[in-house]
Amino acid sequence: MKLENKVAIITGGGTGIGKKTALLFANEGAKLVITDINEESGRKTVDEIKALGSEGIFIKHDVSNEEDWKQVINETINHFSTIDVLFNNAGIYIIKPLVETELEEWNRLMSINVTGVFLGMKHAVPVMAKQKSGSVINASSVAGLNGAPGHVLYGASKGAVRIMTKYIAMEYANTGVRVNSIHPGYIETAMANYASEQTGHSKEELDKTYPLGRMGKPEEVAKMVLFLASDDASFSTGAEFVIDGGATVN
Ligand SMILES: NC(=O)c1ccc[n+]([C@@H]2O[C@H](COP(=O)([O-])OP(=O)(O)OC[C@H]3O[C@@H](n4cnc5c(N)ncnc54)[C@H](O)[C@@H]3O)[C@@H](O)[C@H]2O)c1
Repeated sequence: MKLENKVAIITGGGTGIGKKTALLFANEGAKLVITDINEESGRKTVDEIKALGSEGIFIKHDVSNEEDWKQVINETINHFSTIDVLFNNAGIYIIKPLVETELEEWNRLMSINVTGVFLGMKHAVPVMAKQKSGSVINASSVAGLNGAPGHVLYGASKGAVRIMTKYIAMEYANTGVRVNSIHPGYIETAMANYASEQTGHSKEELDKTYPLGRMGKPEEVAKMVLFLASDDASFSTGAEFVIDGGATVN
């Protein structure tokens, strides 16, 4: 098993990519700390982890809140003694043209997608550095690599995640802590449904925009996260891992 007895924190683990990653990690022997702002779905993920025979706890958590982060780190250490993996996965998505993007929406999305990742690294990475090993995986997006209409806010947040990843990877390069970002294209979760509604393009139409002829599945992203979390990725840090069915090839 690739994560035997490793302790992993997954933010936004109640649904989508976070949930599929949690279940894959559980199958690979990890002990999970699932956090989410949505208590019901987060607890359900923990029930499923336990049904797989693995250990898991749920902590209600708003990633934009520093006190919540301190509690997540303390509870993880109290319960499992260590933090081996942090998947900064929680995020929200807003598609809006520049002039319709309200400052309030800007501040809210940034506080979750950017501040949430910053706070997670600020509080977890020193613990990992002290134990001289750890892996952080930050959820960026193809929107953090390329431009597209209607994505000034979301794209700015994911671009920030991309570059924060590189700075912290370098700041901690000699400590045994690796920090990488993932860059999915559309993945079949609530977010892709929202994109379909907002753009007026059906799922089938969105599928056709991908060279591989379809969107991705959360299970496929989970496998990439597993690679980065495990020692298989021992020579990767500060790097961008694209998983987009060929969408950004040019
Ligand atoms: N699905 C896609 O097409 C896609 C593509 C590229 C990148 N991503 C990124 O992957 C990550 C996961 O996306 P997903 O598709 O699984 O989304 P999702 O909406 O299915 O899940 C996101 C989870 O985050 C939680 N969450 C939201 N705000 C939170 C907060 N303040 N604190 C804690 N938890 C919070 C939600 O309750 C939810 O469980 C996000 O960062 C997203 O931006 C998704």
